[in-house]
Amino acid sequence: MKVGGLLNRRDLLAWAGLAAAALGAPSMANTAGGAANSKRPGGAFPPGFLWGVATAGHQVEGSNTNSDVWALEHVKPTIFAESSGDACDQYHRYREDIALLASLGFNSYRFSLEWSRIEPAPGEYLLAELEHYRRVLAACHEHGVAPVVTFNHGTTPRWFAALGGWENPQSPELFAKYCERVVQHLGDLINVASTLNEPNIPMVIRWLKLPPALIAAQAGMLRSAASASGSERFSSMLAGDEQKMQPQLLRAHRDAYTVLKSGPGKFPVGVNLAIIDDQAVGPDSQLDKKRQECYAAWLDAAAQSDYVGVQTYGRSLIGKDGPVQPPAGAELTQMGEEFYPRALANTIRYAAAATRKPVYVTENGIATEDDARRVAYIKVAVQGVEQCLAEGIDVRSYIHWSLLDNFEWLFGFRPKFGLVAVDRKTQVRSIKPSAHFLGAMAREHDDRKNAF
Ligand code: BGC
Repeated sequence: MKVGGLLNRRDLLAWAGLAAAALGAPSMANTAGGAANSKRPGGAFPPGFLWGVATAGHQVEGSNTNSDVWALEHVKPTIFAESSGDACDQYHRYREDIALLASLGFNSYRFSLEWSRIEPAPGEYLLAELEHYRRVLAACHEHGVAPVVTFNHGTTPRWFAALGGWENPQSPELFAKYCERVVQHLGDLINVASTLNEPNIPMVIRWLKLPPALIAAQAGMLRSAASASGSERFSSMLAGDEQKMQPQLLRAHRDAYTVLKSGPGKFPVGVNLAIIDDQAVGPDSQLDKKRQECYAAWLDAAAQSDYVGVQTYGRSLIGKDGPVQPPAGAELTQMGEEFYPRALANTIRYAAAATRKPVYVTENGIATEDDARRVAYIKVAVQGVEQCLAEGIDVRSYIHWSLLDNFEWLFGFRPKFGLVAVDRKTQVRSIKPSAHFLGAMAREHDDRKNAF
């Protein structure tokens, strides 16, 4: 398979990990959800609109050693290009990072809580870790930044994975208990919450029709992790059996929604979905089939929540046999997907129409070393949001992925999604022009008085 052919970013990501393994890479606002689609004159960004940046615990905190993904990074064989190691050391540097994003002009920060730190053994909740996240939330509020909190983003505790992860019929109860303990401790400081990050991603990945060699390598990695942890089945969101995980993930979201709504705190709760701008090409396109398999159940779940979180990076052309190549000569990002910022407006429209709920854009971004292309991408994507507002769609945030150049899962640290660069040796942050560009836009449209 050649880059720029049938590969999109996740496909490429997976292959990069496989190649690295083969080469011997290291192995071992309290705002309430309202009615959608109320007409807004002119499409101006409404009061309280959240302009933010996103990260996720495992990708930035560093030394997340109790997580399933850390285990997968370190077994032999592994499909991870490298260890997450210290990541961006945000576990210790969160104050500086929050101060930085606030100074850039952003009024919200989306980050995730690391379940594996909070509950490193079943039923054992560490107060010190809950207090850590209380301090992170407090730092947001001190800077006038609304915390948008993801309860689970990609990783689970190692013990949970060793019980079969999301394939385990008991997994929704285990997740609900964690959510209950956490919301009791932190709920009063949360402005917006989501239960799960991209629980539909396993189905989306399935549609990439990954090569058998990669699937075999992944299975080998999971077997090694199982034997290292004395379990029969080690399963992770990033590498589990998508068909077996889906029913539990749906139930986990539903149950966690109920738990989080019981407070303390009174904040909207939703679910963040990976939504590609799928476009039909040629006769007999499989577009509807893909949408049915990847999004339908999750859009229903979002419709029964307070909002739908839209996470979009680009488009995919779907023909009669599935995904087809991007147009000849298309500009590709570092993830091997087409540069296509117009995707966001289309997925906002799609998610809003399917759910009739407010839309929070919780991720949108581009992996590139050329920051000028990031600026160009953001410009078009934000125009798309504005257009959707003008059409009367209730969009409540534009949260960019990502604040920092961080650990991009199987791909390691190579792809650069950050508005802010991170020196891998010193952890020194350097602000890119795109951060100033989006921050200025945020400042221009922000209405702090109404943001909380
Ligand atoms: C995930 C992030 C990831 C980003 C870029 C999203 O699917 O939520 O964790 O880093 O895409 O690939």
